[in-house]
Amino acid sequence: MHAFDGTQTDSVFTHIACRSCGATYEPDLTTFPCRECGGILDPQYDYDAVDVTPEQWEQRSGSMWAYRELLPVRDASAIVSMGEGDTPLVDAPQLAEAFGCGQLWLKDEGQNPTNTFKDRGQSAAISCANEQGITDVALPSAGNAGQSASAYAARAGMDCHVFLNHQAGGVKKDLVRAHGAHLHLYDGKIGDAGVAFTDARHEHGWYSVKTFETPFRHEGKKTMGFEVFEAFDWCAPEHIVYPTGGGVGLIGIWKAYQELVELGWMNDDPPRLHVAQTTGSAPVVEAIESGRTRHQPWENPETVARGVEIPDPGASPWMLDAVFDSGGTGVAVTDEQAFEASLLAARESGIEMCVTAAVALAGTKELAAQGVFGPDEDVVVINTGAGCKTAGKIGEFVG
Ligand SMILES: Cc1ncc(COP(=O)(O)O)c(C=O)c1O
Ligand SMILES: [Zn+2]
Repeated sequence: MHAFDGTQTDSVFTHIACRSCGATYEPDLTTFPCRECGGILDPQYDYDAVDVTPEQWEQRSGSMWAYRELLPVRDASAIVSMGEGDTPLVDAPQLAEAFGCGQLWLKDEGQNPTNTFKDRGQSAAISCANEQGITDVALPSAGNAGQSASAYAARAGMDCHVFLNHQAGGVKKDLVRAHGAHLHLYDGKIGDAGVAFTDARHEHGWYSVKTFETPFRHEGKKTMGFEVFEAFDWCAPEHIVYPTGGGVGLIGIWKAYQELVELGWMNDDPPRLHVAQTTGSAPVVEAIESGRTRHQPWENPETVARGVEIPDPGASPWMLDAVFDSGGTGVAVTDEQAFEASLLAARESGIEMCVTAAVALAGTKELAAQGVFGPDEDVVVINTGAGCKTAGKIGEFVG
């Protein structure tokens, strides 16, 4: 399946800039992060050169590549796509009533090819690798990103090296191997797999598709924002609640908003971006509550929601900018509240949410109790992953 019929994407991607030191790089860069300072790399675009209208975007469908002018791939034949994105915003009137908000929408990212929003980031990152003729990609992961990278690398004919911890869910480990990727398993937490990854990547010269080492995963995630704003007729819903680990999706949505304002396609009323984490690992929520511009590493993280068990997220200053500038807030819930929210979605609205995604719905319930949502306001909860990803754990909870 091709993302579309053209040979060029008409992307206005111009260069890559370091967010810390301002160093700039050509679009064909293949070594990350910033070689001057180790900072996060961010693709830049020439917005004046955009040659498409919002109405034309609205007429396209089928994948996130509908927004190709603002994605970092120029040669259309390099795109590695399985129809990721273009996911529904499913309304959940029962939940809206229970929470006392106007409307509650679940952006159902479980409907992506490997059942999580990670596919948007990996479709972008693996397409960029493909455009540069890369043969080996690698990443450490809590599980879902590793499974997604394995799928896209398989489709592109690349070797993929995935570094996980033994604690990662069985579905992810099994499917990484099903895709023919090389699975490297470690004891301990994601940081331990990360150290092993860094050593191996340097030794073998693999191309990194790791969170915020690659400049391209948040570009793919940006399309979640484009889809939500398009669905609201190029306006923002009042609230977006996001289960936050490394912050790729949160930052992607924020960048989408900023780009649409820059293009003059949206007014500058932002969606309030709310960070949901768990009480066992809440470095970003803690920083929000303390009004800090950077997190402090979380000691001894432990939560069943592995996707948000990220104790030391390097992109926290960027996340905190997005939260403070948008008027958002942070909320931490227990594992039990996350399980209960997963059942609430399944029983009240039919939607299946994995435990990590359910952290966002549990956080939404908590924010509703705090009176954060007005009775006429729209609340979008990002269901980052399908219930099948953690069905075993949910089954244990149901008993
Ligand atoms: C289902 C799910 N939701 C959310 C996250 C957090 O992602 P982000 O890096 O965008 O904060 C993850 C990361 O592993 C995940 O697997
Ligand atoms: Zn730098």
